Amino acid sequence: MEQDIKKLISQMTLEEKASLCSGKDAWHTKSIERLGIPSIRMSDGPHGLRKADELFDKSIPATCFPTAVTLASSWDRELLERVGKAIGEECQAENVQILLGPGVNIKRSPLCGRNFEYYSEDPFLSSEMAKHFIKGVQSEGVGTSIKHFAANNQEHRRLTVDAIVDERTLREIYLASFEKAVKEAKPWTVMCSYNKVNGTYASENEFLLTQILRNEWGFEGFVVSDWGAVNDRVLGLSAGLDLQMPYDGGHGDKKIIEAVRSGKLPEEILDRAVERILKIVFRAIENKKEKATYDKEAHHKLAREVARECFVLLKNEDNILPLKKEGTIALIGAFAKKPRFQGGGSSHVNPTRVDDAVEEITKIVEGKANILYSEGYNLDSDIPDEKLIEEAKEVAKRANVVVIFAGLPERYESEGYDRPHMKMPESHNKLIEEIAQINHNLVVVLSNGSPIEMPWIEKPKAILETYLGGQAWGGAVADVLFGVANPSGKLAETFPKKLSDNPSYLFFPGEKDRAEYREGIFVGYRYYDKKEMEVLFPFGYGLSYTTFEYSDLKLDKKELTDQEILKVKIKVKNTGKVKGKEIVQLYVRDIKSSVIRPEKELKGFVKVELEPGEEKEVEFELDKRAFAYFNMDIKDWYVETGEFEILIGKSSRDIVLKDTIYVKSTVEIKRKYHKNSTIGDIIEDPYAEEIFKPVIQQIIEKSPLKDAPGDLYQMFVNMMKYMPLRGLLSFGGEQITEEMLDELIRKLNRE
Ligand code: GLC
Repeated sequence: MEQDIKKLISQMTLEEKASLCSGKDAWHTKSIERLGIPSIRMSDGPHGLRKADELFDKSIPATCFPTAVTLASSWDRELLERVGKAIGEECQAENVQILLGPGVNIKRSPLCGRNFEYYSEDPFLSSEMAKHFIKGVQSEGVGTSIKHFAANNQEHRRLTVDAIVDERTLREIYLASFEKAVKEAKPWTVMCSYNKVNGTYASENEFLLTQILRNEWGFEGFVVSDWGAVNDRVLGLSAGLDLQMPYDGGHGDKKIIEAVRSGKLPEEILDRAVERILKIVFRAIENKKEKATYDKEAHHKLAREVARECFVLLKNEDNILPLKKEGTIALIGAFAKKPRFQGGGSSHVNPTRVDDAVEEITKIVEGKANILYSEGYNLDSDIPDEKLIEEAKEVAKRANVVVIFAGLPERYESEGYDRPHMKMPESHNKLIEEIAQINHNLVVVLSNGSPIEMPWIEKPKAILETYLGGQAWGGAVADVLFGVANPSGKLAETFPKKLSDNPSYLFFPGEKDRAEYREGIFVGYRYYDKKEMEVLFPFGYGLSYTTFEYSDLKLDKKELTDQEILKVKIKVKNTGKVKGKEIVQLYVRDIKSSVIRPEKELKGFVKVELEPGEEKEVEFELDKRAFAYFNMDIKDWYVETGEFEILIGKSSRDIVLKDTIYVKSTVEIKRKYHKNSTIGDIIEDPYAEEIFKPVIQQIIEKSPLKDAPGDLYQMFVNMMKYMPLRGLLSFGGEQITEEMLDELIRKLNRE
């Protein structure tokens, strides 16, 4: 194949090559008939196929699965693969060769309008979810486009904003969300983001598109621009941006031709891009399944099963859930009949059907309970409607149990803009407050794509976070409310008590086109835990209708080098009365570090299903990256020798078992000493201290202090630990000359 492509390229004119580096229209690559080069089609999106003729046309019907934030709350790798596979099947059936997803940008602020379309605040969880989604889609012979590379963490001024991020933060947080997925799932394409990163547009950022993506991570597909993200086509091509989308009237192609003709752009760079594009085009054609179809009903059923696995039970006092099929149950809130099940923008799917909660709950109670409904609030207004509230109160009076469906209307969050606050509509909040005074047996079911404030949190006995549950949300909610399914989701992001608690609050979304990520690596729980801050609900939190006990934490070694693997085992037991799934989380803490590090970081998770009374042992394997930070001196991942804690948690704030492990670095960081190196830094380094100690002892020997009692050397270094070496010239009793100091520094540097 490779040779054939090179042969094809050798037969192309310059114009033909340039033409292949931009789209034919909104969705297709160009073909070259005379050379038998076909065109392939890309389509959104991350939670369902959005195939439309033009950018903003209504798309064809397709299964709308739960959105990324919901899927990530399942913490279920296999589930993500199943969703990916199903969407891949629909792409084959609809003749789409590349799916434009998953979206993996980290949730720096709860306000980002596209948080519903992304997985998590944590890069380990996000990358694991993306990896398995990509594997699922590509297992059907359909490509993916992991996006938006990189640091696209706000919608505000997204096409021009400059994300100013220090490299360690970029590596440990924002790139890490892509890294494992790119390396291990090998997406056919990567989509670069609109924004600048540290002063250079992502679409022409060689550090991102070539050094990181290709040289370090070994990415072999092609890079496609986000739609309209190209700033300078020639710079982009050189930096590693292979395909410009959508078709731009030929301007980009023309610039490429001129640049090659003028010698500004080496033709090999153009050939490189054409080769990358053609490799994927032919792979797509090879994998095309003619006359493919998919089972709409089966996919809808899957969407319901998936959604059930994602919902997060946040509160369940008196075990009011699961509800019994008896008495009178009031369902209040327009979402119950007109579900909020996805977000706005390019990911928006035209669902094959939509379940509503009233219908599905009525079905599931099989006439054994009397179901009442009341609208509660207007969907297209935030202002409380007193009439609707009064009606809802009347209904609540007649009910044994009330379920309120509330959250964020679609207009509150979307691609293209961020939220100004974390509040729900006043009409929803007021409804909850008013109904709570009428009926204490209150359950709140939330539909929202990102964290919200809950001023009424003490009022309901139960809160079920369903995020954006896809087209089968109504059925899935019915299943969970009545115990057909036991909720097993856990939060993939922190719900802060208030917006100003969020680490990015002071700097988000930045000033004009400058967004400084001044909170650095302290994103989400990394910040709240380090600051020991109270949060509304912590990262990794979620309840169940049963209970679980963890025991027998075992590490297969007490000491290892950074080249070895640590195996961790722990037993989990279902100590309740119903079957359930538990997400066991493994965090690592560097007990003593010479650099600033988070209090803990997620480095493993396992979801396990257990019958009542059943116990299983789950296992984790930790490699170097579980302990490493990105060391800016050596520009690489580095494990500092020392003790680490292995923390096993039910959430980031509920650590139930822990143990310590000693990790030895095999990387020698050559320190560079100079006249401003401090005494303290020198004696920290055993090699350096061996050289340095005799010099100090000699000074002490010849000083008036030489007969003083005690360990004079230790006293000297304690007093002088912050003194730079050059201080010896002044405090060395004139025993130390400039030449001696230079000689000492040469020895310290092994020169
Ligand atoms: C949009 C989005 C991107 C999408 C593309 C095509 O602007 O940022 O996620 O895949 O354009 O619709």
